[in-house]
Amino acid sequence: MTDQSKDLKVQAKAQKINGVRGMNDLLPADAAQWEHLDHVLRDVARAYGYEFLRTPILEATAVFQRGIGEVTDIVEKEMYSFEDRLNGEQLTLRPEGTAALVRSVIENNLLYEGPKRLWYTGPMFRHERPQRGRYRQFHQFGIEALGFAGPDIDAEIILMGQRLWDELGLKGVRLEINSLGQANERAEHRAALVTYFEKNTAQLDEDSQRRLMTNPLRILDSKNPEMQALIEGAPKLLDFLGAESLKHFNAVQALLKSNNIPCKINPRLVRGLDYYNLTVFEWVTDELGAQGTIAGGGRYDPLIERMGGKAAPACGWAMGMERVLELMKVSGSLPEPQAQCDIFVLHQGGETLTAAMIIAERLRSAGIDTILFCPPDGESASFKSQMKKADSSGAAFAVIIGPDELAKDEAQIKDLRASGEQKSIPLDGVLEAVMNALVGASE
Ligand code: HAM
Repeated sequence: MTDQSKDLKVQAKAQKINGVRGMNDLLPADAAQWEHLDHVLRDVARAYGYEFLRTPILEATAVFQRGIGEVTDIVEKEMYSFEDRLNGEQLTLRPEGTAALVRSVIENNLLYEGPKRLWYTGPMFRHERPQRGRYRQFHQFGIEALGFAGPDIDAEIILMGQRLWDELGLKGVRLEINSLGQANERAEHRAALVTYFEKNTAQLDEDSQRRLMTNPLRILDSKNPEMQALIEGAPKLLDFLGAESLKHFNAVQALLKSNNIPCKINPRLVRGLDYYNLTVFEWVTDELGAQGTIAGGGRYDPLIERMGGKAAPACGWAMGMERVLELMKVSGSLPEPQAQCDIFVLHQGGETLTAAMIIAERLRSAGIDTILFCPPDGESASFKSQMKKADSSGAAFAVIIGPDELAKDEAQIKDLRASGEQKSIPLDGVLEAVMNALVGASE
């Protein structure tokens, strides 16, 4: 073959197209874990009377600019934003759920009849550098309680988190908590921070020098190791809180204590989004390397008004589902892989296929998960190769309909797990025989 003809051959073979970096497929082997997680999340949300709300994945960019704040990593660097080619609208793939949910609550007037407890789940998008536990498309479960002002709801949403970690069997999760006070208290603290950092500008990295003018609180959030000593010595917001803010913070802590939820006050916890006031918190673990925050949230009383709604208090949190699943793996609490089906039906094509398909439908109508063998070549396959598939499906029993069985109006049922026993049953008694066998197997 000449080089030219080799080139032509290579060109003729279609190039494979890969997924987008940092955006992962959920493969069948992991589906059962996600399903299990979804179940537990739904159950816990229900247990506390939270209602489901789903917003679209795309929102007007302004939702996040105004909601999360212009001077945040998310809005400055991480959003997937683009202009709609048809009408020039500025759109953004949601980087988080809270601002979008508040947009929906206002637009649909959901607080009209009073406070609301809501939850959501779904994909979020942030253009971060992918690494273990940090992806460009990731999934959050979040809860938001809107219209409640007291510390009781702060404590309630934290209790929900603790219940979740317990139900999921997570080990080594710590709760860190702080109070960001109110705007006037943060303003006083901000002035003190600016004075402090201005005296030490040489030690600030480029990002922090910029933030000194725009959002100095964010400097406390910096992970730059060379700035940690400087940050450690900075004025603490907690020292600037007034009596009301302290009362709220103390009440939250007292409620947590009376429910045996240990927490550590972390004065440097400021969160990466700008809508918070008063209580903020994060659940962290040392088991996942650098991305050890599995969930975070807090109170965001100013947000609803800032988004154009009638002022109402609110609080909530969201967890990273990939990180929680990873921690479940580390904690050894992932569920066992599930069988694909209860029953695997084998046949030899032709009339035996017709009978097998009718029987498989009858089993499914009775709530029995059933896979009907379909030969990959569209023709037929030996019983031996079908039986291999039946075994690897994890089915408890195989139902076999060959020409000999069909001629006698019979089928065979074979135990695939325990005894391996195989016996003949009347064709019109397959459902009954299968039900009895499944009941017997589960006893
Ligand atoms: P957040 O701290 O930005 O808060 O995100 C919440 C959680 O999402 C994080 O603790 C982390 O587990 C997960 N997460 C964030 N970014 C990534 C990523 N790139 N890859 C994987 N997981 C990630 C919020 O989003 C707020 N909306 C939480 C909230 C709700 N506050 C009040 N209500």
